[in-house]
Amino acid sequence: MKVILFGATGMVGQGVLRECLLDPGVESVLAVGRSPTGRQDGKLREIVHDNFLDVSAIESRLAGFDACFFCLGVSSVGMSEERYRHLTHDITLAAAQTLARLNPGMVFVYVTGRGTDATEQGRLMWARVKGKTENDLLKLPFKAAYMFRPAGIQPLHGIRSKTGWVQAIYVAASPLLSLLNRTAPNYMTTTEQVGRAMIKVARDGYPRPVLESGDINAV
Ligand SMILES: NC(=O)c1ccc[n+]([C@@H]2O[C@H](COP(=O)([O-])OP(=O)(O)OC[C@H]3O[C@@H](n4cnc5c(N)ncnc54)[C@H](OP(=O)(O)O)[C@@H]3O)[C@@H](O)[C@H]2O)c1
Repeated sequence: MKVILFGATGMVGQGVLRECLLDPGVESVLAVGRSPTGRQDGKLREIVHDNFLDVSAIESRLAGFDACFFCLGVSSVGMSEERYRHLTHDITLAAAQTLARLNPGMVFVYVTGRGTDATEQGRLMWARVKGKTENDLLKLPFKAAYMFRPAGIQPLHGIRSKTGWVQAIYVAASPLLSLLNRTAPNYMTTTEQVGRAMIKVARDGYPRPVLESGDINAV
């Protein structure tokens, strides 16, 4: 499987990258981001690109892939709806539309979050925006598209969040998160489980397009 990975420098993306590099069924990984991952691996190639609303300049390098794991995303905390929609919906759809055109056999996996609002009408701004993003992705002509909706994600193997306050919470709550991960799989998963589940779903498919935390842990 040839994988293209967006957001490989983030907490979720670092976990997905680690699992892809470890999995013998993943032949190669192309990481596309605005900053380099800093990792060296024979399976890894990278494109550093700064305008994710327009990927035409790198389009020729985005064809020939079996799966896209889209882990680029931001927290909505302190952000206007317009800015959050731009960074969440518009950037994701710009990349996904190009990838669907260039890779008709591609499986696209998107990381959203627990509570995403598929009606696009609810009170929570982030949930509406993620809901519209999911809905629009599911309309694209991919071989299949899967929406991963984790709740909490415990970073393992030294992985860190790019968002300072998120990282602080994870460090402070680390023992509790380990306990929750064992006892409450519907509310907690790990970067390792997310990465492994993405690879499995891309390879073998899944009966439903939306996977909640418990589904991710059970895949
Ligand atoms: N962390 C959690 O517990 C959790 C739980 C549920 C869902 N999620 C979802 O998972 C996704 C990823 O979260 P995360 O925790 O991995 O976030 P993170 O650690 O803050 O990483 C964000 C990633 O997105 C990239 N990025 C952010 N803004 C960008 C922009 N304007 N242009 C290009 N790249 C940009 C970052 O690149 P740089 O390295 O260049 O900044 C980084 O690779 C988000 O959609 C989040 O809602 C996370």
